[in-house]
Amino acid sequence: MKILHISAECYPVAKVGGLADVVGALPKYQNRIGHKAAVIMPYYKTAWVERATGRVVFTHQLVVDGRTYLAEVIDVDNELGFPLFVIRVQGLTDRAGVYGHPDDALRFIAFQRVALQWILTFETLPEVVHCHDHHTGFIPFMMQYCPAFDKLMSVPTVLSIHNAQYQGNFDKSGVAMLPRFRESRYGLLDWYGQINPLAAAIKCAWRVNTVSPSYMEELKEQANGLEGLLRSESQKCVGILNGIDTETWNPKTDEYLVKNFTIRLRAAGRKANKEALCEEFGLDATKPLFGFIGRLVWEKGADLLPEAIEQALNEYDINIILLGSGAPEIEGQLEQLKFTHKGRFNAHIGYEERMSHQVYAGADFLLMPSRVEPCGLNQLYSLRYGCVPIVRRTGGLKDTVVDIGDGGHGLCHDQTSVFDIVYSIGRAEVFFREEKQFKTNQKQMMEIDHSWENTAGTYVTLYEELQPKPVAVKT
Ligand code: ADP
Ligand code: GLC
Repeated sequence: MKILHISAECYPVAKVGGLADVVGALPKYQNRIGHKAAVIMPYYKTAWVERATGRVVFTHQLVVDGRTYLAEVIDVDNELGFPLFVIRVQGLTDRAGVYGHPDDALRFIAFQRVALQWILTFETLPEVVHCHDHHTGFIPFMMQYCPAFDKLMSVPTVLSIHNAQYQGNFDKSGVAMLPRFRESRYGLLDWYGQINPLAAAIKCAWRVNTVSPSYMEELKEQANGLEGLLRSESQKCVGILNGIDTETWNPKTDEYLVKNFTIRLRAAGRKANKEALCEEFGLDATKPLFGFIGRLVWEKGADLLPEAIEQALNEYDINIILLGSGAPEIEGQLEQLKFTHKGRFNAHIGYEERMSHQVYAGADFLLMPSRVEPCGLNQLYSLRYGCVPIVRRTGGLKDTVVDIGDGGHGLCHDQTSVFDIVYSIGRAEVFFREEKQFKTNQKQMMEIDHSWENTAGTYVTLYEELQPKPVAVKT
């Protein structure tokens, strides 16, 4: 099948979180099983993009709300396992930083419009357009209801919801940024008086999926205002668990590690990585090491961490390492803890790909006290690298981590509270001392297969169910 993924992120081109990991891997594995999957994403000024070479394959003068922007699509040379096209809209997408600009709505609308303009020129249309998150949420609407894109009306669309917390909504005056559409369909863009690209995509995409089955069920109860919509559209909604790229995330070949290791020879490799990590962060490699990697936001339960770290360090003879950035008040509290618990707690406030790999390879346990976790990839990397995940049972964490007490390989709790985190750390500390069981558990969890090799086909089955739609009678 000819599959086009459209996304705001793609590893290693531009990554903010797990969305990039998924879009950087799924198409590669779809191609391995005989399909033709490509990725279209915005051109940002990232180190990767600026180093890359490629050819301009399409140019366009995009008019948005009376202003003209020069746009081009670049076919980028790469060895990622799929064709990669970046869309540069001059003055809009070509900046450093993926999100967080005051004109993000305009930037992503411009990106989506140019993507469709380009697709219009294809000799053979894609058999499915697969959109990821709200940044690409207007695409299903535009393909159905903008006369300029009528040619694309019969191309099936799929929306993957990686995170329904972020919906990209803006004031209704912003509707002027979209191309002319059939006015009777305005309601598809509107959600409670605002233009909401995620809601529009849920309404207009032919199929909608979340990145884990449990998250889909949770969203029907609580989706930041979209729960009713997801319930009413439930016949086209499904949960498909993410996989991981077992080539990028392979302790045997991972170039970021101090020493590579396999399942069989994991002890020496993990020890070397733990020692290097502890040396770099001034910690004690003889103590159980707990890690946290992630965005310091409410969804990840990060606001509970400073207090939980403080209590856990007071109660147990352990070390903790943290890698992340986000809410300034949490960052401030963590900086404080670095001083008060020097030698037992350390943090790198920022984003550092290398360090994250080392934490998975060197820490004994990984903390994921998430309030909301659509899938979560950290726990999957952590399992593969032999670092026991400690998770709150929610979303994808619930679907991928089973407690050691129930025959699984991680430690789980149900509440989002400091008490639950510290209680699980206590259980983990006891488990760490049960050396034989700890080692057996480590071996078994590393053997679990969460590779995209197993799941890339699930999406293809979904695409195949989408029969070309009869062309609707226009009003
Ligand atoms: P989310 O996308 O919600 O942030 P995921 O668990 O799906 O959560 O994916 C997070 C990804 O980002 C993982 O690849 C993780 O290793 C990485 N990551 C998160 N924070 C950092 C950081 N500060 N430095 C390096 N990698 C990070
Ligand atoms: C989002 C979610 C995360 C998920 C990732 C990839 O960023 O927060 O849970 O793993 O997307 O699907």
